[in-house]
Amino acid sequence: MKADENGRTGFFITGTGTGVGKTLVSALMTLAFDGDYWKPLQTGLAEDVGDTADVAALTGLPPERCHAPLYQFDALLSPWSAARRTGAHVDLTRISLPATKRPLVIEGAGGLMVPLNAGQLMIDLIAICQLPVILVVGTGLGSINHALLSLEALRRRKLPIAGIVMNGTPHADDAELILHFGGALPCAAIPHLPDLTEETLRTQAARLREIFSARQDTETTRP
Ligand SMILES: Nc1ncnc2c1ncn2[C@@H]1O[C@H](COP(=O)(O)OP(=O)(O)O)[C@@H](O)[C@H]1O
Ligand SMILES: [Mg+2]
Repeated sequence: MKADENGRTGFFITGTGTGVGKTLVSALMTLAFDGDYWKPLQTGLAEDVGDTADVAALTGLPPERCHAPLYQFDALLSPWSAARRTGAHVDLTRISLPATKRPLVIEGAGGLMVPLNAGQLMIDLIAICQLPVILVVGTGLGSINHALLSLEALRRRKLPIAGIVMNGTPHADDAELILHFGGALPCAAIPHLPDLTEETLRTQAARLREIFSARQDTETTRP
């Protein structure tokens, strides 16, 4: 796995939206690369334990390898909306990635164009983190459009793309069409998993490792 100038390796897990499987894929990638997990911005804590606790439960990793969010909000809203309600301000100049020698798997919130404050979006946080991006695509009608828009936004900002994960029951020939227009990226497919047992998770993690070790972060720009 290629390291950045600070010796850091890992992935930024984003997706075509909320509920598409970013947390599950983050847990799998953390297992696959024996990494640490970090969700810098967590909203919706009034309704849920949050993704950090979910990943700790899914992976069985100790708490020190599932780093606490930098900002946490109760409202299940975009970070900017949730922060405004409490008078807080998400300040990306405060972002410093957790210190770890392991690969760091960072999970975003929602998709790329989610507002974090009056001037910045999730994609700006990705640019700051400088880790290759995995785009989790929730399968189903509409996913081609969401995936291609997301890839275009990443490329416009010259952000490195590690690949795509099609998550859920495959829908038509969507994966093929996304790669046709979106470029020949590494692409994994995770089926609907009725039981998230340790064995199932390990099997899927091993598949992701195979697909994303080889060509990880080779793409930086595309026309
Ligand atoms: N491939 C899958 N098989 C079974 N359940 C899944 C799968 N992907 C996601 N889920 C479930 O769907 C819900 C939303 O997934 P999650 O990873 O939390 O999405 P996100 O982080 O994008 O909001 C969770 O309950 C998760 O366990
Ligand atoms: Mg999540």
